[in-house]
Amino acid sequence: MGTPIIEIKDLRKVYRIGSEKVVALNSINLTIEKGECCCLLGTSGSGKSTLLNMMAGLEKPTKGTVAIRGELVNAMSEKKLARFRQDYLGFIFQSYNLLPSLSALENVSLPLTFKGISRRVREKRASKLLEAVGLGTRIKHKPSQMSGGQQQRVGIARAFAANPEIIFADEPTGNLDTKTTIEVMELMKNLARQKNQTLVIVTHDLEIASYADRIVRIRDGNIEGIEVKHMNESVGVVK
Ligand SMILES: Nc1ncnc2c1ncn2[C@@H]1O[C@H](COP(=O)(O)OP(=O)(O)O)[C@@H](O)[C@H]1O
Ligand SMILES: [Mg+2]
Repeated sequence: MGTPIIEIKDLRKVYRIGSEKVVALNSINLTIEKGECCCLLGTSGSGKSTLLNMMAGLEKPTKGTVAIRGELVNAMSEKKLARFRQDYLGFIFQSYNLLPSLSALENVSLPLTFKGISRRVREKRASKLLEAVGLGTRIKHKPSQMSGGQQQRVGIARAFAANPEIIFADEPTGNLDTKTTIEVMELMKNLARQKNQTLVIVTHDLEIASYADRIVRIRDGNIEGIEVKHMNESVGVVK
């Protein structure tokens, strides 16, 4: 066992719409270790995004706790959370979420502006990252001037810009073709490995999940099983 970085205990989320109740998460217990690449795998509506959003403090649980680096995320004020996210978390979205009026370089350096880093250093770091994701010749391009795969590589560079300890990605390859999906998955894994960063990736696709060190299967708001990938790439059921 490595060092736990995310600890989820008895996590429950019930949505109420009028008189109707939707149990999105039943009672989740899960520990994610520092440096691991963990995939949350399940069909649409199984509760994956709800779980990811609660880990990142984007939603409050109905019951239970989420601790990151030993700090209770569910108990933080909005102000504390905003700071905590800037310091420790990175996000990659299915729809890239780049700012359309900004260049690739500006999009990637944006998260660093909140950290009191000088413009020169920000731009240097951003252009190094864009080079690392294979976009060294596209730094002045706007999102609309790039393909989906290129935009997501900008999204990846942005997520890693502030060197977060944890990167959350919700269906990051959902809008990409097979070849680009493979490139994007490899890129995220390789970048994360370099600095022992933790990756939590949501997907409905077993092939994508097979990139992970560990697959957590979610079904109807429960953990159905956990599969650990061994060094020889075979997958064993742990549960
Ligand atoms: N804001 C919300 N209000 C009401 N129900 C929601 C909300 N978000 C998610 N749900 C419901 O919770 C369940 C899990 O949703 P979600 O976590 O988005 O699933 P997944 O990401 O696995 O597709 C679904 O039944 C969904 O309809
Ligand atoms: Mg989802």
